[in-house]
Amino acid sequence: MRRILVAGNWKMNLLQSQGAALSQALAGKYASCAVEILVCPASPYLGGVGSTIRGSAVQLGAQNLYFAPQGALTGEVCGDMLKDVGCGWVLVGHSERRQFFGEQDELLAKKVAAGLQHGLQVVLCVGELLAERQAGQTEAVLEKQMAGLAQVSAEQMANIVIAYEPVWAIGTGVTATTEQAQQAHAFLRGQLKSRYSEVVASATRILYGGSVKADNALELLSQPDVDGALVGGASLKADSFIAIIEAGIQAQARKG
Ligand code: PGA
Repeated sequence: MRRILVAGNWKMNLLQSQGAALSQALAGKYASCAVEILVCPASPYLGGVGSTIRGSAVQLGAQNLYFAPQGALTGEVCGDMLKDVGCGWVLVGHSERRQFFGEQDELLAKKVAAGLQHGLQVVLCVGELLAERQAGQTEAVLEKQMAGLAQVSAEQMANIVIAYEPVWAIGTGVTATTEQAQQAHAFLRGQLKSRYSEVVASATRILYGGSVKADNALELLSQPDVDGALVGGASLKADSFIAIIEAGIQAQARKG
């Protein structure tokens, strides 16, 4: 049984006091929770948010890492620093990293491996551009992006979550239909089966991301192969993020 994960990617948003208020609201409401909850603040605030949520059901993740160990790499942050500051999770390969920072699958595979090596759970993000979907290339793109798992063994897959985020649905208000999401998730699960095994494929969580909101979350999360949500905009306010978490709890109960 896969436990639903509702993750908030705050991106480059929220100053200290805003992030503190949001994390206090979440931690205050969820001392424990039937679904897993994750927040990923901007890196200067990881420590502060981490201490606010300590002891609650809300977990801490970073939005990025560099694969190399500590050293002369100005501006970068490595896995042991994230672990040291209290992160349990890291996002790798978000489409904004791919699009605006030129991150490609080979680099991302190293980042995934580095995250695992430092004891972090890794959310590997994949997803096609609108032009790729229109050209019928969605599955080919997803298959190629699964190369981010190149250095991950079957045993290590217990610490990997995949996030399917069609780029055309991110921050646009356009959500993939439940059918489009389910179809892509089923394809990704098939990829996990062929790369690893049936056991790994059925145990690995695949999140949907892209304009997830309170009013579409339950339908998306009820799809058989949708195991959670990676939420951007709607994770920045306590009421909308809590509504999505509550939808997750309902979906989890339905799935048994
Ligand atoms: P969005 O972002 O929910 O604002 O579309 C999702 C994401 O990029 O993770």
